[in-house]
Amino acid sequence: MRHLFIFLFLVFSFQIASAQGRVVTELTDGWKFSKGKQDAAFQVAFDDKNWQTVSVPHDWAIYGPFDKEIDKQVVAITQNNEKVASEKTGRTGALPYIGEGWYRKELDLSHVKPGQRAIILFEGAMSEPKVYLNGHKVGEWNYGYNYFYFDITDQLFASGKNLLAVHLQNVGQSSRWYPGAGLYRKVSLIVKNATHINQWGTFVTTPLITKDVAKVNIKTKVTGKDVRLVTDILDADGKKVASDTARTLFANEFEQNIAVATPHLWSPETPYLYKAVTKLYSGNALQDEVTTRFGIRHISYLPGTGFSLNGQVRKFKGVCLHHDLGPLGAAINIAALRRQLRILKDMGCDAIRSSHNMPSQEQLDLCDEMGFMFLAESFDEWAKPKVKNGYARFFATDAEKDVVNLVHATRNHPSIVMWSSGNEVPDQYGAEGVKRAKWLQDIFHREDPTRPVTVGMDQVKATMASGFGAVLDIPGLNYRTHLYEEAYKAFPQGLLLGSETASTVSSRGVYKFPVVKAREKQYDDHQCSSYDLEYCSWSNLPEDDFILQDDKPWVIGEFVWTGFDYLGEPTPYDNKWPSRSSYFGINDLAGLPKDRYYLYRSRWNTKDETLHILPHWNWQGREGEITPVFVYTNYDSAELFINGRSMGVQKKHNATPQTRYRLMWMDVKYEPGTVKVVAFGKDGKPAAEKSITTADKPHKLVVEADRTTIDADGNDISFVTVSVVDKKGNLCPTAAEQLQFSVTGKGTYRAACNGDAASLELFHLPTMKTFSGKLVVLLQSTKEPGEMTLTVTGKGLQAAKLQVRTKR
Ligand code: GAL
Repeated sequence: MRHLFIFLFLVFSFQIASAQGRVVTELTDGWKFSKGKQDAAFQVAFDDKNWQTVSVPHDWAIYGPFDKEIDKQVVAITQNNEKVASEKTGRTGALPYIGEGWYRKELDLSHVKPGQRAIILFEGAMSEPKVYLNGHKVGEWNYGYNYFYFDITDQLFASGKNLLAVHLQNVGQSSRWYPGAGLYRKVSLIVKNATHINQWGTFVTTPLITKDVAKVNIKTKVTGKDVRLVTDILDADGKKVASDTARTLFANEFEQNIAVATPHLWSPETPYLYKAVTKLYSGNALQDEVTTRFGIRHISYLPGTGFSLNGQVRKFKGVCLHHDLGPLGAAINIAALRRQLRILKDMGCDAIRSSHNMPSQEQLDLCDEMGFMFLAESFDEWAKPKVKNGYARFFATDAEKDVVNLVHATRNHPSIVMWSSGNEVPDQYGAEGVKRAKWLQDIFHREDPTRPVTVGMDQVKATMASGFGAVLDIPGLNYRTHLYEEAYKAFPQGLLLGSETASTVSSRGVYKFPVVKAREKQYDDHQCSSYDLEYCSWSNLPEDDFILQDDKPWVIGEFVWTGFDYLGEPTPYDNKWPSRSSYFGINDLAGLPKDRYYLYRSRWNTKDETLHILPHWNWQGREGEITPVFVYTNYDSAELFINGRSMGVQKKHNATPQTRYRLMWMDVKYEPGTVKVVAFGKDGKPAAEKSITTADKPHKLVVEADRTTIDADGNDISFVTVSVVDKKGNLCPTAAEQLQFSVTGKGTYRAACNGDAASLELFHLPTMKTFSGKLVVLLQSTKEPGEMTLTVTGKGLQAAKLQVRTKR
């Protein structure tokens, strides 16, 4: 009976899909994968039975091992102001992404009817994918970060069984960070009628908005004759709020202008989403149906006023993100992306920059839903290279089609409020570069007249002199806080964006003495101090940006480098081994907040209280030595107590950039015990307090999951933070304990990460050392619902157990 029911359901769901005219299948399971050269792998007869079976999204390089030889280079990183070449390691994560890889998958296409079209859509493939169907090459796409599709109808076998093969290749010195390797984003098969709505054929904009009504403009490109288009607009509850039928085609495009009464506006605080359900008919026959989610919102960028969303002036409280998800590598995972955004939301962040390439659709969907504005970037290189084998190889032939696909695939996301055509491109120098900037910007404008274009510029003087900066809709400055005033005066736009800011470096829970501001500081343990006073030769401390943001109305916001640590670019240890991931993150590679998280939170999260003390208070051997205490808080003043003795009151003041935003007790001498801070409200009365206490020796493990119920879909992940605590439950902040993980029941151990940029432990093995007392374990669901149990053990420590439920 159960089988009969499943069968009926399948038939029923298939009929629904075919009545709508298109069937979309995500190609996730049952891929065969092999690394290395395979001459005949594109042929149907090729025997792949010894290949690994994998599911997609997949990153072949994240399983390591880390090896300094992989990306060892003798180079001068000119972006980092280096003049002399030196040996660099870990720049791309020291993970084995270089080389060739093949994926093969049998497709059952028996549901394709004569006359229908079949399309294969890739949302990113790293890199230089060549796609074959039944032994025939159907196409290739060089840029690993872009979305692309091919019509494979002409290569289909009528029998139903078809063989898809994809070849990928990553050459060395092709990236400045860990790019990942393989089919790391979604692959889908779309089967639709000869008469259909074109791929990415829908473009929704909201050109007019008042309190009473919004004009929703929908352009829809179609293939077919004698057709009509019916569009229903649904509100967030799925209720139809407007409808329109269009019969006139302009070339191959319908244009509809639909009134939506009393519109709910989209914003980070109110991420309200509508849906446009578009049906294409010929006669009375439904030929195709596409649902497009959109938001009603208005953006403007004006000299003097700056950026406004729905008429309200605001500044971007943004972070830059690379695309990797730490221990998961580049393989896209919705739970991991959602967790990142939840953490950023709590910090008060409201904007993301996808540095320096196309964002995933999953990330954009989440930003639409959770309320983040988005700066979608395209390139890190134009025609002039930064690395030997970077995108410059393809710029002349591919840049236009790469921009077109970026815009077409993502333009209906209300979260996107700006495009970026480049990051610190060496083409900032010279007249050719100015032409390229204009050429690219014109392509963006042609494809999307509603959003402005920026470039993150680091060669600010050159771009002032050449006219490069003046061409752009929005001049974006990367760092160079000392040039903001000059650039503002030199550029004609009347505003500036901090397209990349700070690049302060720190390691979670690590503090160095003496506590001083330092540039490019290195230590023997390959860590950076979390007193948040260390930066690079080109970068700065957070407060230098805060001051510009707070004092200059023409600065329209900032995107901090970066929200989370990422694999590769281990500055300031590019020339030291081991170190294989960044130190720039506000959160570490495991997603655990560093102290800096609270500094940003204290100004960005205006709803909740922030009161955070640093450093930790376990300094055995430093008794009597100067151990400054910093407090990151939204309160203006506070009093500090060590073991009950007052260390005095500190108040934020303008003497230095740091004293304006941090409370600092510089002369505190360490003694074990309790550090307590009492913050004062505007009335001068105690409003909040916090304390930390010296921990005794490690005693037990404590586990805490971000979610204890997850979906039984084989992809969902519960992120479990494991902490080493003493008998009383105090975090042991220096504990480096080797832990073991085991998972039983309906779930699997996926990975662990401790946030230590110098660790060479592999993420997917079920053992890892805690770093500064903590690490994160990732538990993944299977497709079967039920319970899974994680057990974490460590020598001499009371073990911890956790149950996670998975549900359908
Ligand atoms: C910027 C660059 C980023 C990253 C950062 C590190 O110049 O745009 O990709 O390298 O520096 O500080």
